[in-house]
Amino acid sequence: MKEFSVVIAGGGSTYTPGIVMMLLDNLDRFPIKQLTLYDNDADRQNVLGESLDILLKEQAPDITFHYTTDPEKAFTGADFCFAHIRVGKYDMREKDEKIPLKHGVVGQETCGPGGVAYGMRSIGPMVELIDLMEQYSPDCWMLNYSNPAAIIAEACRILRPNSKVLNICDMPVGTLRRMSQIIDKQPNDLEVRYFGLNHFGWWTSVKDKEGHEYLPQIRDYVAENGYLTQIEVDTQHMDQSWQDTHKKAKDLLAVDPRFLPNTYLKYYFYPDYEVEHSDADYTRANEVIDGREQEVFSTARTIIENETAAGSGFSIGSHATFIVDLARAIAFNTHERMLMIVENNGAIANFDDDAMVEVPCIIGSDGPETLSQGKIPEFERALMYQQVTVEKLAVEAYIEGSYQKFWQALTLSKTVPSAAVAKNVLDDLIEANQEYWPEFK
Ligand code: NAD
Ligand code: LMR
Repeated sequence: MKEFSVVIAGGGSTYTPGIVMMLLDNLDRFPIKQLTLYDNDADRQNVLGESLDILLKEQAPDITFHYTTDPEKAFTGADFCFAHIRVGKYDMREKDEKIPLKHGVVGQETCGPGGVAYGMRSIGPMVELIDLMEQYSPDCWMLNYSNPAAIIAEACRILRPNSKVLNICDMPVGTLRRMSQIIDKQPNDLEVRYFGLNHFGWWTSVKDKEGHEYLPQIRDYVAENGYLTQIEVDTQHMDQSWQDTHKKAKDLLAVDPRFLPNTYLKYYFYPDYEVEHSDADYTRANEVIDGREQEVFSTARTIIENETAAGSGFSIGSHATFIVDLARAIAFNTHERMLMIVENNGAIANFDDDAMVEVPCIIGSDGPETLSQGKIPEFERALMYQQVTVEKLAVEAYIEGSYQKFWQALTLSKTVPSAAVAKNVLDDLIEANQEYWPEFK
């Protein structure tokens, strides 16, 4: 089997060790000859790089491993770039969450004003990353799961329409794992139909390969418990705030019991509840800093101190095997069926062609082919149109440096109660993001 050269962009990410361990666990399906971590923060990446160097020498000595901040070294000869960057890191995530909350608005990394703020920081660096990849390895594919995926995908559509970038989200994958647990199946046994935008969609069918429909059975469970399952099915979304989110799906389902909702819809359907149940002094960013970041970096430091990974290893990010499935689909033309963020072009028959939607696709060596989801009901269509317009206005505002469009984007967000509040939040966000944003006039 062919062996591949992989770059992980955002090498200093808390997700990097889990992804590397997952890749080692999948070498029989996706052989790797070279693995490179690339980041623009050498200090942060060096800790993970040094520890993974020790681990790989012990566990996979045949893989050539580097970690670097030099894009030429990182991208030359690469077949795939797995991108998970966080522009502004947790310092800025905290501001994305806390500034809106100070104004009584949902504070979240991808939904509402915080998501738009994160998007405004991410468009420029993501485009730069794509350009670097193409400069040094024109045939390389980027599998991007950096957030905020909806805004990044729309920016790619406008600014780099011909680039080999695939935008994908792990949230539907994680929720499908929970659904499979509910009906005592394996996720790979199931095929879904789904429509929506990123972090804003609905399952309309969950069938096994024989065609049996499980949606009613799952719906009965979710109506009682949300997606909360007793068994650990998803090591990524296990913190208390995520348990609350899985549970809240019960109230999302109540709004339209025909379909199974994406958990992120809670920020749009119940923004008042979310604000009431948030602590503006301790948000999800703090939970991640005190939890995942602390754990991953202290494990790395222990490996470095001990000069061995034996007995103190990183855990496998098994939730992320979808990245290998996607890479394999491109590399080996497997025609894998996965949810992807793609230009609509008729996949949702009564929705705009030029909207970036999340729908099932068949993926082969030329990329994704979308599967038609037919017409969707007016309620969901109207919600989606409002939200996709927020995302489009945000990208236009970035490109034109337009304060007016930026303000309109926030005013239109279902999470924001009025234009006055939108303006106050925006002005505070501009102040906080001076180092990262273009000037908005
Ligand atoms: P993190 O802060 O631990 O890591 C992000 C890394 O990106 C940092 O080391 C930072 O220095 C680096 N970085 C920032 N800008 C860069 C640039 N221009 N070039 C190269 N590197 C750059 O963040 P994290 O919590 O591990 O999350 C990483 C990303 O993955 C986030 O965008 C997060 O939202 C995303 N994520 C996506 C999914 C998904 O499925 N869509 C799931 C989980 C996390
Ligand atoms: C993260 O893992 O930090 C996010 O991307 C999602 C979350 O857990 O808030």
